[in-house]
Amino acid sequence: MRFDIVTIFPGMVAEAAKAGVVGRAIERGLVTVKAHDLRDFTTDRHRVVDDVPYGGGPGMVLKPEPLFRALDAIEAESGRKPLVLLTSPQGTRLTQAVVERLSRQPQIVLLCGRYEGVDERVRSRVDEEISIGDYVLSGGELAALVVVDAVARLVPEVVGDEESVAHDSFSRGLLDFPHYTRPAEMSAGGGEQATLRVPDVLMSGHHAEIRRWRKREALLRTLERRPDLLEGAALDDEERAWLREHGGRADS
Ligand code: ADE
Repeated sequence: MRFDIVTIFPGMVAEAAKAGVVGRAIERGLVTVKAHDLRDFTTDRHRVVDDVPYGGGPGMVLKPEPLFRALDAIEAESGRKPLVLLTSPQGTRLTQAVVERLSRQPQIVLLCGRYEGVDERVRSRVDEEISIGDYVLSGGELAALVVVDAVARLVPEVVGDEESVAHDSFSRGLLDFPHYTRPAEMSAGGGEQATLRVPDVLMSGHHAEIRRWRKREALLRTLERRPDLLEGAALDDEERAWLREHGGRADS
């Protein structure tokens, strides 16, 4: 899978992409991330990418032509029409369902918005606008990196243990269950005498019980922290019964 990121901070994007799971996927040839410097697609001596807004007002607007030229160059190089995304707080909210849909694309171009906005005509070349949440970043680079990270880890073989992707938070529309590692017991610290223990069931070796405990914890954690997610989750009879026990709606 290939990502082309058009940005005025290509160094930042390229460096961030080298880390962790995405970096390893790039080294293994499973994913390609190419950062394109928007200034390379300007034609003036000062490589200007923004200008004042028509109609007045504060801030600068990203000029359309450099973005158009960047898209032309990327399309010409790849010989196909990739999916073009624009990062923007006005976009579709990124969810795991959107990430899954994006992960089926062979190539995604991410145009990083900047400043007060992007010339509206750029949207004529954009398939979808993506927001990573209801807050305003100073630019789209971090949002583009979020998209790359979330999508790349769904590319087959990128995450070593395929199981761990299947069990992710949200993969079933529910939050993840709690995880523990050694030691089995430890001091609570902070001057407290208490001991923090790993739940016995996890050390019992009873795999069916462990599975059931995790399923229940995931459900109850979702009920407590994100009850809105239960509306869209496909629950089985056992889960609906647990919800009824805990006063949650069991008709979802
Ligand atoms: N650019 C600025 N804020 C953003 C957001 N929340 N999501 C995506 N791109 C952005």
